[in-house]
Parts: sequence; C-alpha cells; structure tokens
Amino acid sequence: MTTDRAATADAEPNGYLTGPFSPVHREITAENLVVEGEIPADVAGSFVRNSPNPKFAPQGRYHWFDGDGMLHGVHIAGGKATYRNRFVRTAGLMEETEAGHALHTGILERPDYRKPGGPFKNTGNTDLHFHAGKFLALWWLCGDAHQVRLPDLETLGAFNFGGALARGISAHPKTDPRTGELIFFDYAMQPPFMYYGVADACGEIVHQTPIEMPGPRLQHDIAITEHYTLLFDMPMYWDPELLRQGKTKVVFNRDLPGRIGVIPRRGNGDTIRWFEAAPFYMYHTINAYEEGDEIVLVGCRIDNPIPESRENPLRRARLTFLELHPLLHRWRINLVTGTVKEESLDDVASEFPRTNDRLLGAAQRYSYNPRIAREPQLLFDGLIKYDTTTGASWTCDYGPRRWGGEAVFVPRAGATEEDAGYCMNFVYNGDDDSSELWILDAQDLPSGPLAKIGIPQRVPIGYHTCWVGQDEIDTQIFA
Ligand SMILES: [Fe+2]
Repeated sequence: MTTDRAATADAEPNGYLTGPFSPVHREITAENLVVEGEIPADVAGSFVRNSPNPKFAPQGRYHWFDGDGMLHGVHIAGGKATYRNRFVRTAGLMEETEAGHALHTGILERPDYRKPGGPFKNTGNTDLHFHAGKFLALWWLCGDAHQVRLPDLETLGAFNFGGALARGISAHPKTDPRTGELIFFDYAMQPPFMYYGVADACGEIVHQTPIEMPGPRLQHDIAITEHYTLLFDMPMYWDPELLRQGKTKVVFNRDLPGRIGVIPRRGNGDTIRWFEAAPFYMYHTINAYEEGDEIVLVGCRIDNPIPESRENPLRRARLTFLELHPLLHRWRINLVTGTVKEESLDDVASEFPRTNDRLLGAAQRYSYNPRIAREPQLLFDGLIKYDTTTGASWTCDYGPRRWGGEAVFVPRAGATEEDAGYCMNFVYNGDDDSSELWILDAQDLPSGPLAKIGIPQRVPIGYHTCWVGQDEIDTQIFA
C-alpha cells in the first residue's frame, strides 16, 4: 500500500502525514552543525525528541498517535553539535521491516486482539526518560519500554525491569529528584485497569499495586508530591459496550465527575483516596506539591476533549475525533475536608508543558508551555513561560509558518534560581521545509534564541523531549 492509497482511506487528506508532519525516511548522522548565535558554554549532553513517524504506508486510517517511534537527537560537546535520527527498533517495526510493509493497524481501525502484546503495535513513540543509567523510550498505550543508547540513539531492546513489571509501563513516569525513585503507572482495556508502581534509585521495582477503577480509562500522565502520587479517573474512555463487541470508540461522559486519586508513595491500591472535580480531560500535568492541608495540582485542563461537531470554525487543533483546547489550570485538593477548588489561570491554549524537573513534587513557579496555533492540526506557534502562582506570562513568538513543540528546561550549570537555564526545542520552518534546534534563555524568552542549530533535514512535529547531561550519559548501564 502506498502513502497516497493510505491517505484515501481517510475521509479527507490526512493532515498528520503531510506538511510539517510528513515523516522522514532516512536515518542520518550529521556532525559540526551550522550554528547561528552561540551555544552556551555550560551546555553539554544530548537533547532528544520522540516522534510518530510511520516507516511504511499505514494500513487503513491513520491517527497521529499510531506512527512508529523516531528519535531526533542533537548531541552537544565542546560547543559543537551532532544530529542523528533513528527509529525505535520495536518488535513490531522489525516484523514489518522483514515483511516490507505495514502489518498493524492503528487506533482508528477495529483492533485485532490476536496480536501478541495487545491489539496495537507498541511503537515506543511517545516519551523519553532517563533513570538509573538507562535511557528509555516509552509508549502512551503502555507495554515494555525500549532502552536506547546515548548519544548514538541505537535501540538496545525491550526493557521490562528484568521481568519485574506486573504488566507494562506507560509514558510519563516521574523521577523524584530528592529520592531518585521512579514512579510509574500502567493502564489497560482489561482488569486490572490500572497498576501503580515505584522503582528505587537503582532501578529495582520495589512496589506495584493494582488500582481499582470503574472501567478502562485513558490516563496519560501522573503527578507526584513529596509523599503522594496523583492518579486520574477522567470520564474519557473506551465505550464499554463497543469494547465487549471487540470494537473501540472513545467517548467523553460529561455526566461523570473528573476524579483525582491521591495515593501514598508506596501505598497499596486500597489506600487511594478519590476527590471529585468538574469533568475534564488532561494529557499532561505540570506539577503538584503539598501546602498545609492541601495538594496543589497544576496542569493543562481540557473542558471538552471530543467536539460534538465535525465543523471547526475556531480552527482549533483537531486530532481526528479529539480536540485540543487545553488551558492552564490549578486544582487545590483539601485532604482534610475532601473538597477540590479549581481555577483556570489563562485563556490561551497551550500543551506539552515542561518545568525545572529538579523541583518536581515541590512548590514551583514556572512552567514552559508551547502555545497552540489556530490551525486545523496541532501546531505550536510560540513558547509561553508562565508564573503558575500568578498567571503572569512571557512569550517567544516563533514567527509566521514556524512551528515548535515541547521545550525541555535545561538548568544552567551551578544554578540555584528556578528559572536559571535554557529552553531547548526544535522549530520547523514551513517556508523552506527546514528545521532548527533553538536554545532560549529561560529568563528572557521574548528576546528569542541564543542559538539556532541548523538540522540538515526536516524534523517533523513530534511529542516529548528529554535532556540528558553528559554527566548522566557517562553513567549509562547497558546490561
Ligand atoms: Fe504525553
């Protein structure tokens, strides 16, 4: 099947296979990249982004979440930069490479439950996380992680903590910067619908427990505080009746509350407390922390993730049946009274937020949020720095037809101020189909980049980014 034929399988040309989203097919290495401006002297390590990038023309309808994982990395050493892009070599991709064409269908097609490991291909396409000497590519629908070597981005194989995972691991585990623990979760269409777990600073799983849920849920992220983990039961889920018929359709039920679960760091499933909030969906949290009797949670809240109409007069970002209009939001969960107070902090849509991860789980002010453009697809036309305590903001506008993505925060060497550091982010230029890695001063986003590093091929719009400093790269364990 060719790409053109795959496109005709959709009702209209698939905007997530064309333009800024067009997949790339060459895996290249390019040294001594051209730099406009100057790479800060204290920046040394690897910036890597995960992205969906179908190797073969999709079978049937394509959703942006379906594509094979491709990593785009820029390794910086001695002020010089090297670019590499490599597929995450998953079992499914290897099987398809052997066949020479796609064998798996995506989430818009009827799932094939005969496939080993679940109906959908574990693409490893979503998130990246470095923990206990291992750099891991993670998948939003859960499964084994894949270990990747830095800086050359070679996939070393599937990783399941030496067989200790109860079932799988989702995207968006968190490392507690104080204890070095990895806090993770896993969700599925079959009971138990969720697992929650903790690995210690050495990467050994020390705690796993099933979480009772009313049905299969689509949780994408978690948040941690010093003593607790926040899990979510949001009313967006696979339609249970259709699931019984072997089909999948995602629905959003506004008649149900959004529930925020608070579980002690190593608590068993029966110790979770659920707190009810207004119905919502949220892909990504920003942070959470304890303050007196309360837990404060900040994230990008979506009031209605599934539009009633196919019309899109406001040109809001659509992902097939999903719509992204997330707004900066704060919940205050009172552990004594059981109540939740919540407030929206801005009316500008933003997503893929990042913070200074050294303060994860602790009181924090700043968040760096890509601003969602008024375009039919999910595109980001600037980067907003928020003071999440006041709602104040500062913005770097990328300019016409320039689209960015998640910007990782890289602390300046020896810095103690929360925002002393850099925001690093790929920016695509729609005028000439080129891409750059931008390095911004996090204390002065509106002045634009300190350095633009030219990438010798398009870097299609993608998902999550990770910065791994050279000191961490040197601790890698390949066993
Ligand atoms: Fe995500």
